[in-house]
Parts: sequence; structure tokens; C-alpha cells
Amino acid sequence: MSEVLLKTVELRRTFGGLAANDRVSIELRRGEVHALLGPNGAGKSTLINLLSGDLAASSGQVFYRGQDITGLTPHERSLIGIGRSYQKTNIFPGFSVRENVRLAAQSRQPRAGRIFSDATAFAPYRQAVDDALAAARLGDVAERRASELSHGQQRQLELAIVLATRPQVLLLDEPLAGMGHEESLRMLDMLRGLVASHAILLVEHDMDAVFSIADVLTVMVNGVVLRTGTPEQIRSSPEVQQAYLGSEEAAHG
Ligand SMILES: Nc1ncnc2c1ncn2[C@@H]1O[C@H](COP(=O)(O)OP(=O)(O)OP(=O)(O)O)[C@@H](O)[C@H]1O
Ligand SMILES: [Mg+2]
Repeated sequence: MSEVLLKTVELRRTFGGLAANDRVSIELRRGEVHALLGPNGAGKSTLINLLSGDLAASSGQVFYRGQDITGLTPHERSLIGIGRSYQKTNIFPGFSVRENVRLAAQSRQPRAGRIFSDATAFAPYRQAVDDALAAARLGDVAERRASELSHGQQRQLELAIVLATRPQVLLLDEPLAGMGHEESLRMLDMLRGLVASHAILLVEHDMDAVFSIADVLTVMVNGVVLRTGTPEQIRSSPEVQQAYLGSEEAAHG
């Protein structure tokens, strides 16, 4: 079995009287796309926020490579290898694609390193920028302004911004949202190319996309994990069908 990078134990987060996450225990392994499914309000984004540190846990723990990181800030988690995408908020529209990625890469530099302005001091993250642009397939448009990119390319830029921090774990909350079919396929292909060296947690509503890419799926309903399993196990699970997949089909068709 591959290395467990991120793990939660009995994670809980309440908002007033509502448990948005309750007793959530999951494992993310390197080399796996782990899809997080569930109806609106199930607690998927809350879990992503608890993993990235954007939300504090009410109780329970988050472990990164065996180390308890429950108390770390989002920036501290980014520094040790946990990358998450935000929906657009990280993109500076007036800056070039490359500059956007460079700013993200620079955020990983130790503070002392930032005082050097000569080219050689920048070499380590220049490589990170080039690698991120290549992995997100934005090499050809690197000098364009971010505002000139298509919607799909802007989502690729969000991915490049995360990759520039050289994460081990990718937390992606609906990276295919608003994309056309071709754009979605391109993004899925990119994620497949990244999975060997990363653990990927993917929240996605498009069932065809989810089942085409996920190695492991976790279904959440009302803040709790209903089931974790392989695509076959999830598809054939009566409880999942009853609680979620059945209602999705009823809703869409
Ligand atoms: N900051 C907040 N304050 C109060 N309630 C919140 C907050 N964030 C989330 N919630 C509530 O927690 C529950 C889970 O929300 P969450 O956003 O995690 O769901 P989700 O599974 O991501 O849904 P969707 O598929 O619609 O994105 C919902 O009932 C939501 O209203
Ligand atoms: Mg959500």
C-alpha cells in the first residue's frame, strides 16, 4: 500500500447547533485520486477547509505524514506540502500567467531568501514555476495576462498556482465547475498525470467524471461519512444508492 499522506481522526466541526462534519475519519494516499461525494450541504467543502486549515476543528485530529497538524495555520500547512485551490480568489487578472504562478512559488521561499534579488537566488523557484506551468499545460500562454484566459484556462491557472508551492497533497473543491466537456476532459487528464506523485482529494458533482478518475470514493451525507470504497463498492452499495446516487438520478433524469 502507498504512503498515507493525510489522515483525519474523528474530525468534527460545528456551526451553532449544526455538525457540518462529524466523526469524519479518512485517509489520503500518494498515488490515489480520492473523490468526495455527497449532496449539497453534506460537508464536503467544510472537510476541505478543515484539511487546509482555513477552518478550525471543533474536535478530532488531522495528521500529515504521521504528524499531528490540527493546530497549524493554512500557511504552515502550505509550507509542509498541503496545497488547496481556491475558486479564483488567488488569480491577479492584470498580471501575466507566469507572474501569478511566480507569486505562489515565492510564498514557499524562506523569508531570508527573499532579500536576494539576483537571478541565481531565484533559480529554485524559477524551476518550480516552469514545472507548474508545464504540468498545468500553460507554457504556451505563460506571458498572457490572466484576464485574457478562457474559463478553462483560468481553472488550469488555479491548479498551476497550487502546484507552484510543490505540494504533496492536492485539495481540489470542484475544479471542473463551469467547464465544458472538452475542458473537463483536459483537466481530468492533467490530474491523472499528477496523481503518481501526489495524493489528490477531489470534490466533484459530475458522476461520469468522478467514476472515470477516482481510485477511492468517500460519500458524505449530513456531515458524516456514509461509506468509503472503490468505485465498484460505491456503485453497488445499497445505502449509497438510497441516500445519494438514487436521488441524483431521480433529480437529473
Ligand atoms: N461558515 C459557515 N457558517 C455556518 N454554516 C456553515 C458554514 N459553512 C458551512 N456551513 C453549513 O455546513 C453544512 C455543510 O456545508 P458545506 O459547504 O461543507 O457543504 P458541501 O458538501 O460543500 O455542499 P455543496 O455541494 O453545496 O458545495 C451546510 O449545512 C452549510 O450551510
Ligand atoms: Mg461545497
